[in-house]
Amino acid sequence: MTGRTQVYGIIGYPVRHSASPKMQTESFKHLGIDAVYVPFEVKPEDLERAVLGIKALGIKGVNVTIPHKERVLKFLDFVEDDAVFIGAVNTIKVEEGKLLGFNTDWLGFLKSIEEEGIKLEGLSALLIGAGGASKAVGYALLKGGCKELHIINRTFSRAKELADTLSQIGNVFAYKLSDSAFEVLLKKCILVVNTTSLGMKEEDPPIFDYSLLKSEHIVVDIIYNPLETKLIKSAKERGCKTVNGVGMLVYQGALAFEIWTGRKPPIEIMKKAVLESVVGPGGLEPPTGRL
Ligand code: ATR
Repeated sequence: MTGRTQVYGIIGYPVRHSASPKMQTESFKHLGIDAVYVPFEVKPEDLERAVLGIKALGIKGVNVTIPHKERVLKFLDFVEDDAVFIGAVNTIKVEEGKLLGFNTDWLGFLKSIEEEGIKLEGLSALLIGAGGASKAVGYALLKGGCKELHIINRTFSRAKELADTLSQIGNVFAYKLSDSAFEVLLKKCILVVNTTSLGMKEEDPPIFDYSLLKSEHIVVDIIYNPLETKLIKSAKERGCKTVNGVGMLVYQGALAFEIWTGRKPPIEIMKKAVLESVVGPGGLEPPTGRL
């Protein structure tokens, strides 16, 4: 480090499980950029002061993670349209003393799907979950061209609320989570995306009866640790194409990197860093892995 080293970071609570410091630091190193990326553990009650501190300390940019993604918007000078619609910011850039907010989660998800050769145009998708992460994923599925989005959630009111918001940009339907609803919806939907936190812990129950999956289903789980959730494992056993959450994590980080530096992100370096964080020596302990 030198007196000119630029500082980037991530604010969250907790934040110690994040794979982003390793992923971003390795990228700066790879491109010879004189910058560091550090974790900032910020309690909810300190969020406003911490955000003001970004400017005061001359920090160039930060990622924002749970539980601050939604509340941070009101402390920013400008928020781009996608982030306003989603109601969450995961990337802040400081430009000419102004705090600019972006959401790269949704496009990160979309890129990770495209990277796997999955074409969303005209597909019917089943989105499981209606929490914070679900909104960015639902937005991406519709922006990516899905003709119908079916949202199923344990708490129906949250599914309904998310469906109401997303119906501004597509055909969206809400359901309460039940075996019978899955039975019907899996006949309609080729693409199945888990955005609940179920599957992060070894002892988590299955989300639905996985024997309902057929080989033509494409199954995505945005969890990246473990790399293979019970859902992904069962889908593979049934011959389905599967995608885990590593790509979404990598691409949301890559897009943030590009916003901050204007440089092309080193995707393979970032992927390697994430995989080492999850399974490598000194790797993150589960449950950790979901945006
Ligand atoms: P995040 O912001 O990370 O998405 P969240 O807003 O707490 O987190 O959302 C977690 C999602 O996982 C929700 O869809 C939640 O369902 P509810 O809206 O009913 O709470 C879902 N979820 C968590 N634990 C679950 C469980 N045991 N069974 C079914 N769904 C669960």
